[in-house]
Amino acid sequence: MQQLSVVILAAGKGKRMVSDLPKVLHSVGGKPLLAQVLATAGGLKAAMRVVVYGHGGDQVKTALADEPGVAWVEQSEQLGTGHAVAQALPVLDDAGVTLVLYGDVPLTRQETLQPLVDQARQGRLALLTVKLADPSGYGRIVRNELGQVCRIVEEKDATSAERELKEVNTGILAVSTAKLRGWVAELNNVNAQGEYYLTDIVALAVRDGVLIEAFIAPEAAEVQGVNDRRQLAELERFYQRRQAERLLDHGATLLDPARVDVRGEVTTGKDVVIDVNVIFEGAVQLGDRVKIGPFCVLKDAVIGDDVEIFSHSRIEGAAVGSGSQIGPFARLRPGSQLAAGVHIGNFVETKKTIIGPGSKVNHLSYLGDAAIGAGVNVGAGTITCNYDGANKHQTVIDDGAFIGSNSSLVAPVRIGKGATVGAGSAVGRDVPDGSLCLTRAPRKDVSHWDRPVKPKT
Ligand code: UD1
Ligand code: CA
Repeated sequence: MQQLSVVILAAGKGKRMVSDLPKVLHSVGGKPLLAQVLATAGGLKAAMRVVVYGHGGDQVKTALADEPGVAWVEQSEQLGTGHAVAQALPVLDDAGVTLVLYGDVPLTRQETLQPLVDQARQGRLALLTVKLADPSGYGRIVRNELGQVCRIVEEKDATSAERELKEVNTGILAVSTAKLRGWVAELNNVNAQGEYYLTDIVALAVRDGVLIEAFIAPEAAEVQGVNDRRQLAELERFYQRRQAERLLDHGATLLDPARVDVRGEVTTGKDVVIDVNVIFEGAVQLGDRVKIGPFCVLKDAVIGDDVEIFSHSRIEGAAVGSGSQIGPFARLRPGSQLAAGVHIGNFVETKKTIIGPGSKVNHLSYLGDAAIGAGVNVGAGTITCNYDGANKHQTVIDDGAFIGSNSSLVAPVRIGKGATVGAGSAVGRDVPDGSLCLTRAPRKDVSHWDRPVKPKT
């Protein structure tokens, strides 16, 4: 099969974004526009992905440095889409086919593009078009009396009759690389904008007897470009609607599909229920019957079956075992690993902490750099003092230990199996298995104590 190269045009300025960030680094669905397009190209099994960059090139390259196998080609002056493609041609192989995409058109689906690539492999020039109620600004698709595409005319070059045409060019096309090379070499800039128009290859294809296959995009948002932040916001909503529909189709209940945001990949088990204003980032896995309350953020998290997460909780870089209950107002930070049946209550923060099955940390605690066994009860206000200003130290709490409220565990320290720490203790030495540790200062009562009084003026 002829190999596919994808050329992504991304040299435009993006002035209307009013931003220091190059346009293609603005995000949709938590991912830069250009990264979305590169991912689509990857999905099409492109042997090669070429990005034609211009403004802010170094910034773009640095931001996307971990994308493997991308060729970066500079277009220092923006002389038109035909000129942009010409910059990429030296790195393309004539034996294959080329698909042209735009770096600022992020949401075209693989299913929409694959037929174009297939047609290019059949020797045709494949175009993606779209019908718009208001076609202004776009190149128009001109068809003959048989309905065959014969050329594309840019708005600035069009007659008033041509401007009435509602079918427009999305800019996305696919064709054999050898043919593309020949036609691009023939382009000139004798037109209203003094630009080398890639669109002029359509008329050259007709001249050469190459069949043109135009596919009409099913949904305008799929081929919509981003020029300003209004369009960026519109595409974000479109993208989120798609994500919500995907979750619904996989059997999740969304109390309001318009109030869930997916900025990464979420997988859901059966009968998951997600309340309003929940945000998912990175890779999130939800088991069966997971319930998530309102206003939660889950980032890079694995949540077991039957877990309930109450409102306003943030879970990041953490694993939560089945049947656990989290929140409200809990914060699980990276490296938190909870076994089954763990309870984490309100205003509890954990970081790099392993918690064994059935252990409870119900209120107002900080547990950092800790290993906690099974069946442990951590009282309200317990703090691991894990940081001495320079180093982080470990706290170990063995199975069945009971930590009284408002205790400070000064790491490194170990609380033995079944040990008890009395409320209000500051524990700086290991507590042996089964013993009681009390560090409270002895109580003193002063009878008939006269409180200080303010002097009378
Ligand atoms: C182009 C098409 C037009 C189509 C429209 C769809 C041409 C001549 N016209 O319009 O038919 O309806 O897209 O949006 O192709 N770019 C470069 N280098 C350049 C010029 C552009 O990399 O020298 C990139 C831009 O960054 C952008 C894309 O190509 O991603 C399209 O450029 P833009 O100026 O938005 O499109 P037009 O040329 O106006
Ligand atoms: Ca334009």
